[in-house]
Amino acid sequence: DEVVSATPTYFQMAYEATANGASVIYVPVDENYVIDLDGISQAITPDTKLISLVNPNNPLPTCVHKTNMDAFINSLPSGIVVVVDEAYHHYIHTPDYGSCIRYVAEGLPVIVVRTFSKAYGLAGARIGYSAASSQYTNQIASSQMFGMVSNLGQAAAQAALNDTQHVIDTVTLNDQAKEILQDGFTNLGLDYIPSETNFIMFDTGTNASWVASELASKGFQVRTGWGMPQHIRVSTGLLEEMNEFIVALGEILGQDCRERKTPP
Ligand SMILES: Cc1ncc(COP(=O)(O)O)c(C=O)c1O
Repeated sequence: DEVVSATPTYFQMAYEATANGASVIYVPVDENYVIDLDGISQAITPDTKLISLVNPNNPLPTCVHKTNMDAFINSLPSGIVVVVDEAYHHYIHTPDYGSCIRYVAEGLPVIVVRTFSKAYGLAGARIGYSAASSQYTNQIASSQMFGMVSNLGQAAAQAALNDTQHVIDTVTLNDQAKEILQDGFTNLGLDYIPSETNFIMFDTGTNASWVASELASKGFQVRTGWGMPQHIRVSTGLLEEMNEFIVALGEILGQDCRERKTPP
């Protein structure tokens, strides 16, 4: 069996597929860092059973335009299931986005998975949910191990679903934090990829691993990799942390990145 997935993306689905004996075809994102749905369609073979999408994506904080998603879902050959991970859907503001839950309601072969680890702040509770037709949820339930979700996790998730103010506050804080980061990058002369999530990817213009280790020595943990040697992914935090991050970045790179400091 074969799974088709974008790259770079969140690794979990491809990891599980490989662990279960499937092979994974990776389709690079397009020139705007958005999942290439045309490329994914072209990568489908008779062995393809599942397409895995993360929307918005991670580490690239972009999302797919809903009209493109409509065209893609409606053009799929029969027998293929699309799993869409919407871990970051609370953070999206662009009107171009539409949750794939609408396809589930239409009876299409789509499974949407969401986590309580992001906007709800329950990462340690290890709980999420899926939305799909019973044809798929029954299959998922039959292969789940007993007691995978604790009573505490379930209680926390139920409380979180009723706490809409917490989500509003989290999203507001995230928006303010991203604004500080984006203004900071602009002032430093650094390019960044506009974000629909709670992290931003920016181009250091130099060796990202070096910048990341300098940031670590100043107390900031960031991620590098994904075949993008100049880019760093930074998550949002408290507003004062974002301000401190930009100051630290300026100290490392030089205040004007047109005259950027480079690794020694
Ligand atoms: C796209 C995506 N899905 C899922 C997760 C993690 O979810 P969970 O904590 O429920 O395993 C992450 C975490 O980084 C993620 O980026």
